[in-house]
Amino acid sequence: MNILVTGGLGYIGSHTVVELIENNYEVIIIDNLSNSELFILDNIKKITGVKPKFYNEDLLDLNKTNEVINKHDIDGVIHFAAFKSVSESIKYPLKYYRNNLLSLINILRSMDENNISNIVFSSSCTVYGQPDKLPVSENAPFKKAESPYSKSKQISEQIIEDFVNSNDNISSISLRYFNPVGAHDSGMIGELPIGIPDNLVPYITQTAAGIRDELSVFGNDYNTSDGTAIRDYIHVVDLAKAHLMAIKRLNNSKKKNIFEFFNVGKGTGFSVMDVINSFEKINNIKLKYSFKDRRDGDIEEIYSDVTKSKNILKWQAEKNLDDMMSSAWKWQKYLK
Ligand code: NAD
Ligand code: UD1
Repeated sequence: MNILVTGGLGYIGSHTVVELIENNYEVIIIDNLSNSELFILDNIKKITGVKPKFYNEDLLDLNKTNEVINKHDIDGVIHFAAFKSVSESIKYPLKYYRNNLLSLINILRSMDENNISNIVFSSSCTVYGQPDKLPVSENAPFKKAESPYSKSKQISEQIIEDFVNSNDNISSISLRYFNPVGAHDSGMIGELPIGIPDNLVPYITQTAAGIRDELSVFGNDYNTSDGTAIRDYIHVVDLAKAHLMAIKRLNNSKKKNIFEFFNVGKGTGFSVMDVINSFEKINNIKLKYSFKDRRDGDIEEIYSDVTKSKNILKWQAEKNLDDMMSSAWKWQKYLK
């Protein structure tokens, strides 16, 4: 079975490509290397023994996208390609709307023209904003998006829903990721943050590696057990496996015209201090950190209700926080 993976050299895409290859899928990647590097392709080969077909093309070019798709008999698409920095999206909203929305529209058009039915889409828990109830389930309404990035995910899900409603041949599953962290056990693929990381775990690993002087813990006066904010961290390998379950579900379904969405989290909240303590303990490293004011725009607490994913997608996370922190450090040491 041939699966087109857009953004397949990126952080989550590359881990999903590995899982697909290990489950005997043929993988075709389109990635314009705007936020990834070619050595990841070689490392996928080192891990799996297979070098997937790779096209360095921009999805904003519909003709080129069609050319790639025409060359292969594609059975399904997993669409990762997008820009993902919340802070950058606030600075450059048009850049974000253009890339994230037009690449999706082009993929959907190309699927339609080439008679491809199934797409798995990378969404985010950010579509919920600050939810009223925890754990947050898929029934929670979309709140006002806090950034153009978040809005691009809300709009993308709506574009897909409208397209599925208008076209009997299209089916889709959106996966709403919570906080993906960690790396492959081999330590040869992982997240490549550009510049100074915004996210907690790359900041921790870069501090441990001596690239950053000190980690700032944003806020220790939240209404949580240790005062630091709570998130639902999910190991990227567990997350990659959810994509396999989603593409299988679409490809095996007798029902046509599916539009579904699932939370992909661990279902457990960890505080910033839980993450730091786990990193220090499992890697036997003392981390330099200090408490600072809360970061603008941060919410106090969010974690997922994963009942629907367990029951319908037949998926649940297996790896624990220590696995996330040990693999993240292994990857950082590989990069260093
Ligand atoms: P990433 O930046 O590592 O990977 C995205 C890949 O897409 C990159 O390799 C980039 O070069 C490629 N790309 C971007 N625009 C493209 C275009 N126009 N044409 C071709 N290739 C293009 O990001 P990631 O962390 O792997 O995230 C993957 C998806 O998951 C994104 O849609 C992101 O918004 C979503 N997501 C990520 C997180 C997270 O924390 N990493 C959380 C929730 C949702
Ligand atoms: C951010 C994005 C979210 C995206 C997610 C991907 C925002 C507002 N949200 O979520 O859309 O899906 O990344 O993983 O940017 N922290 C520190 N020190 C740091 C960095 C972070 O204390 O140097 C704290 C934060 O205040 C937060 C927690 O660590 O409480 C997690 O932060 P981060 O990794 O940036 O993720 P989110 O803010 O949850």
